[in-house]
Amino acid sequence: MSKIIISTKNLQGNQSQISKHIYGHFTEHLGRCIYDGIWVGEDSKIPNTKGIRNDIVDVLKKINIPNIRWPGGCFADEYHWKDGIGSKNKRPMRIVSNWGGVPENNHFGTHEFFDLCELLDCEPYICGNVGSGTVEEMSQWIEYINNDSETTLTNLRKKNGREKPWKIKYWGVGNENWGCGGYMTAEYYSDLFLRYSTYCKDISENKLYKVACGPPGEYPIEFVLNWVETLMKKTAVSTFYHDALIHGISLHYYTRMGSMPSVSVNEKKYSLAMKRALYIETLITEICKIMDKYDRSKSIGLIIDEWGTWWGAEKDTDPNLYFQQNTITDALVASLNFDIFNRHCERIHMANIAQLVNVLQSLILTKGDKMILTPTYHVFDLYKVHHDSTLLPMEITTENFQKGRTILPKIHGSASKDIEEKIHISLSNIDPNSNVNIELLFTDLNLEMKQLEAAILRSNKINDHNTFENPEYIKPKKYENSNFKIENNLIKFEIPSKSIMVIEIK
Ligand code: AHR
Repeated sequence: MSKIIISTKNLQGNQSQISKHIYGHFTEHLGRCIYDGIWVGEDSKIPNTKGIRNDIVDVLKKINIPNIRWPGGCFADEYHWKDGIGSKNKRPMRIVSNWGGVPENNHFGTHEFFDLCELLDCEPYICGNVGSGTVEEMSQWIEYINNDSETTLTNLRKKNGREKPWKIKYWGVGNENWGCGGYMTAEYYSDLFLRYSTYCKDISENKLYKVACGPPGEYPIEFVLNWVETLMKKTAVSTFYHDALIHGISLHYYTRMGSMPSVSVNEKKYSLAMKRALYIETLITEICKIMDKYDRSKSIGLIIDEWGTWWGAEKDTDPNLYFQQNTITDALVASLNFDIFNRHCERIHMANIAQLVNVLQSLILTKGDKMILTPTYHVFDLYKVHHDSTLLPMEITTENFQKGRTILPKIHGSASKDIEEKIHISLSNIDPNSNVNIELLFTDLNLEMKQLEAAILRSNKINDHNTFENPEYIKPKKYENSNFKIENNLIKFEIPSKSIMVIEIK
């Protein structure tokens, strides 16, 4: 038996808003994410708009996709934006040195990325090149995108077919500069960040939200915390300037699973995946303690702009493509992450799963003109009710399950209230074998006259997944109301093993 207590009073006023940007995405020129994924080109037989697959656009609109980060990743550290504008047949051919040395024809560039964001009605988030790019190059990219007045770069943009500026807000100043972005020290990067950020100008009324490269979550915690402390010490003071130089610090943390492909997951690896996914809460808590020291008003956001499972390559696929199947185990990793992000929403302004299509923990897999939705997609769909809602305090008392030396609490979750006062509770039972009885109590809500509805995502085996032959094997189902018993203002029900539930109370 597990007990859940929820209060419908807000935690900390405005600061407990769950930003819809927590449910954001990441696309990189890696494997088949962009080419042969999102982008098929105008001449493709696959139905597309300006070269972008229509079926992908349709399913992403359904989950109210809030933003997309692009062009990388490590790819961003060697990307020169002028390669990706102008007539396609004149764009230079480059090598993607980080990802298998494959050729890059630059057919998907700035204009195509903004086309994608406009089709999806979502916010663009560009990661600029600090690793091998110059301050001037980054500053000119922003001018090309955002400027309206008559300049050479504005005219170039117009000549390339875009009259009005796009007005980007989210801007990353470097990617993984402790690694593929230049192997810099925290001190060196922090100084460089201030220099680059100074010349990432707000143009006209358009305010940029500038994200500094944060630490690698999988490194020893001392390294992680030193990176954050150094960056905060050197940059947080700028929040007192007229135009702050820093608005966010990124964190990259993968639930890294070694060489085993996702579909081979056994119970031992499954438990490890849950444990590693849950570790992100320790990271967030420790990082936030440091951020709080330098920024008590919590104006600087923690931006988890790469997260998700990283399994071994799928059988018979090129390991350089990072293509992985996606099982109910991945779905549970996603739900655990979201509940953690929701609970820390006062500091987490954005998060971006890696990656949207065909790479790592994807929402969508494609094969020729076919497309399937993964269990992870369905978690995004179920959790969209939390977008821009108010976090509600929730206390969970639950028993543990054990596999070998791994001992973990069975039930995890978060709750929020939307603008129509509807309450949503997301819950996961990560016990691979046992269902759990739940007693849910509201401290200050009378359930008489309230309606209850719930959906559930579950499967029998930890490696169950959707395939091109059986694309709807795992998808959300209605959780029948007859399964709920309401007694003395207490909601009693059972949550099956390996399942994710979202309950609506209105
Ligand atoms: O998402 C794949 C890669 O993982 C990204 O390019 C890089 O930033 C990270 O190491």
